[in-house]
Amino acid sequence: MSAVQQGPDVSVPVEPVDLPLPELVVVLAGGLSHERDVSLRSGRRVAQALRSRGLDVLESDVDSSLVPRLAEVPGAVVFPVLHGEAGEDGALREVLALLGVPFVGSVGSACRVAFDKSIATTVVADAGVTVPTQVALPHEIFRELGAQALVAALGDQIGFPMMVKPSRGGSALGCSKVSTPEELPAAMVGAYAYGPVAVVESFVEGTEVTVAVVDRGHGPAALPAVEIRPDSGVYDYTARYTAGTTRFLCPAEIPADVAARCAEVALRVHDELGLRDLSRTDLVVRDGEPVFLEVNVAPGMTETSAVPLASEAAGWSLGKMCADLVAVAAARGGRTAPVPA
Ligand SMILES: Nc1ncnc2c1ncn2[C@@H]1O[C@H](COP(=O)(O)OP(=O)(O)O)[C@@H](O)[C@H]1O
Ligand SMILES: [Mg+2]
Repeated sequence: MSAVQQGPDVSVPVEPVDLPLPELVVVLAGGLSHERDVSLRSGRRVAQALRSRGLDVLESDVDSSLVPRLAEVPGAVVFPVLHGEAGEDGALREVLALLGVPFVGSVGSACRVAFDKSIATTVVADAGVTVPTQVALPHEIFRELGAQALVAALGDQIGFPMMVKPSRGGSALGCSKVSTPEELPAAMVGAYAYGPVAVVESFVEGTEVTVAVVDRGHGPAALPAVEIRPDSGVYDYTARYTAGTTRFLCPAEIPADVAARCAEVALRVHDELGLRDLSRTDLVVRDGEPVFLEVNVAPGMTETSAVPLASEAAGWSLGKMCADLVAVAAARGGRTAPVPA
């Protein structure tokens, strides 16, 4: 069952889950990604939120001591708050599943698809979600064919302005808006600094919103949309993580029917990609129509992140929401059925 929550007025029954809590939660944060610092901040906030609900929490980085440490705490549930490659591409979750450790969030195979912007965009477009016109270009092709050969074709296909970003990235790192053909080669190089495949897509002019989907044991529900208004006009790394540089409006200042469409799209994305527990879909509303930008399987939980804000706006403290997610993961357990041969 899917339920949509749009701001405090149009609420759906969201009873608290009544499941036992585990003895210990291991919050995984840090990791070796470009977003390590953000992850540590997110992890600290989740850990504090869980402690405020009386849970015992161990904060852990991802290193060679992790597997033995998990073996010492058999009743624990892992809450991965790792951003970027290792955390969101599903690799670590595959390991947790292999170890039989219950964890909050989507399984590895779903993360692999969701984390890659070119693949995720194709999948959700096939499901009827509006997406930007997009081309994925691996670095070798770009180098071998030469920038000049491709610039004209990209201009014809996609048009200006366009957006260039690493296919597998986050926190807007390596993302740039390209307004003229001359700017394109440098933008491609900027994206390749973060990974071997870049996506080039049409720039969607409109209102940026992000919608979290949370399943606290009653099926996925969309939290109120958060509207993002960076003072600089660009929602880049600085605008994300420097307090006071971006206004976050929750609920978003968009008409109720548009907010409902945004919630619908976020739920469809969550469902089509087979995501579990928690996701956050980034959208731009263009002429009243939500256009998909990307989905996050480990959304930011820092002081300036959207999910904690949306959770509070829905009437749940972040601690309550995280504790419910942990209880659901504990009830589910860690063993997954092996893939049939
Ligand atoms: N096609 C696009 N049109 C307009 N703005 C975009 C587009 N793609 C990305 N952006 C902007 O760049 C930011 C980062 O892009 P996004 O796809 O969300 O990647 P990530 O957050 O993983 O770095 C977005 O928050 C948005 O402000
Ligand atoms: Mg994003």
